[in-house]
Amino acid sequence: MDIGAMSRGPGQAGARRGTARAIAAVVLTAGLAGAGTLVTTTEPAQAATTGETVSSVSTASSVGTASSVGTASSVGTASSVGTASSVGTALSVGTASSVSTASETGVNCRRVKCVALTFDDGPGRYTDALLRSLAAYRARATFFVVGQNVAAHPGIVRRTYAAGHEIGSHTWSHPDLTKLSAASVRAQFARTDRAIKAAIGIRPKLVRPPYGAFNATVRLQARRPVVMWSVDTLDWRHRDSAKVARKAVRSVRPGSVILFHDIHPSTVRAIPQVLKSLSKRGYRFVTVSQLFGGRPPRVVYSRG
Ligand code: NI
Repeated sequence: MDIGAMSRGPGQAGARRGTARAIAAVVLTAGLAGAGTLVTTTEPAQAATTGETVSSVSTASSVGTASSVGTASSVGTASSVGTASSVGTALSVGTASSVSTASETGVNCRRVKCVALTFDDGPGRYTDALLRSLAAYRARATFFVVGQNVAAHPGIVRRTYAAGHEIGSHTWSHPDLTKLSAASVRAQFARTDRAIKAAIGIRPKLVRPPYGAFNATVRLQARRPVVMWSVDTLDWRHRDSAKVARKAVRSVRPGSVILFHDIHPSTVRAIPQVLKSLSKRGYRFVTVSQLFGGRPPRVVYSRG
């Protein structure tokens, strides 16, 4: 794990670097220490249920500090200003531009209702439309991207990150990692890390295994939090916008992590309704890292 690279940043971020390193080290240690404990999940629905307990182990730290982990190297001045203000934080231009996009936020998910919308399998041809919908609601989301798609469309990933969203790894070619050797699992993550770093300048801090399938080997090789979900919209099956929106809106709870796939146009069309309904109910749309105050547990299902 390249903690040095994760906490690298411009001068003003220097004060935070020590903390960032410490936090990154804690996350890493926790991940490795727990690696012996086997967590097997192949069935998403079951995993989501089981996970509620697991995720309760974690809790947060202060957003401002912890969120500087791994994001300090990003640039994107103009966009970071826009997105910083989108979550209602009073950030000065100087601060926003010197630190990064997705990190600084005043949202405290212990006090307000937060939800993390997550989008897998992209980037794809509908991702830009999704970004426009999210921007209209000043919503942030997390994109678990497939490495080979990143290599093919780095510009989309760059725009996604610049708009304040979080980029996580969804492996290079979307295999079932539990069927691969440790070396192959490592290669899936390493290759994707390189593609993402080439696109946005940083290594992703989160991974989501394809099909939600992971075991101790996968967790060890991932070397960072493994992010599952607590609400599965089954959007890949239904391909029906109204149904997808209804599922998300009915199942959400404060702290939910909702699974979508932005490669389906039906999903992308469902998002404005999701944003509208949940906004009315007082939800704030945050990235997975923000949901946990910058310090996600080693396995994430939801918060709370
Ligand atoms: Ni997937």
